[in-house]
Amino acid sequence: MNGAWLKVVDIWRLGIVDDKNISQAVVARLPRYYRYLGDLKDSGIERISSQDLSKLMKVTASQIRQDFNNFGGFGQQGYGYNVEYLYNEIAKILGLDKSYNLIIVGAGNLGQALANYMNFKRRGFIVKGIFDKNPVLYGKELRGIAVQPVENIERFVSENDIDIAVLTIPKEGAVKTAELLVKCDIRAIWNFAHVDLNVPERIVVENVHLSDSLMKLSYGIANQ
Ligand code: NAI
Repeated sequence: MNGAWLKVVDIWRLGIVDDKNISQAVVARLPRYYRYLGDLKDSGIERISSQDLSKLMKVTASQIRQDFNNFGGFGQQGYGYNVEYLYNEIAKILGLDKSYNLIIVGAGNLGQALANYMNFKRRGFIVKGIFDKNPVLYGKELRGIAVQPVENIERFVSENDIDIAVLTIPKEGAVKTAELLVKCDIRAIWNFAHVDLNVPERIVVENVHLSDSLMKLSYGIANQ
């Protein structure tokens, strides 16, 4: 790594750019950059110009440059981007250089599908516990993890250093469950329940609504 690269890292590490308000739109684009760079890295590609990355991702080269400028640039005139370096830096920005312990609350169709999706583990999201309120499910194993009663959540979270709770329960129970998770000092909630959660600001909430994506698709069809 030469001086120019180091400079970018130093700027980042020294916190000169990390208190800058990065727009949610940029943050929302980072996982896609990360995926493409991961694929390039896996195919043995060491560097890529912003033009080539732009063609590949169907995003303008200026958009790419603008996005990366939020974090100090990462590029080098006449060289382009070092794929592995950029991949690792985006991972750090996204917090993917660490691993996170998860619990899933709601072991129905969605909870089971998420528990069975192995790619999360590869990204550092480790499912540690699965909970439900239906006694019929207690003891049922999903990838070697037995479903437990919700009454165990509080103790389990405190004993297992849990960072994230995934809520895959109907909206009726979600607000109360979120209150319990706040009490347990959870750091983040990945909320699939169709209700907005009113939690303290320190807790990160990411709401997921697959139907929103479907509505975008239908908009696309309607405007074809
Ligand atoms: P499901 O009925 O198969 O599973 C729900 C599970 O949650 C059941 O096992 C039930 O016993 C458990 N449960 C209910 N209340 C609970 C509580 N207070 N504490 C612990 N466990 C509780 O339903 P499915 O298909 O898994 O969907 C789960 C929820 O996620 C539904 O409410 C659905 O509307 C929502 N959903 C959201 C999506 C999204 O994109 N945001 C997509 C699909 C479903």
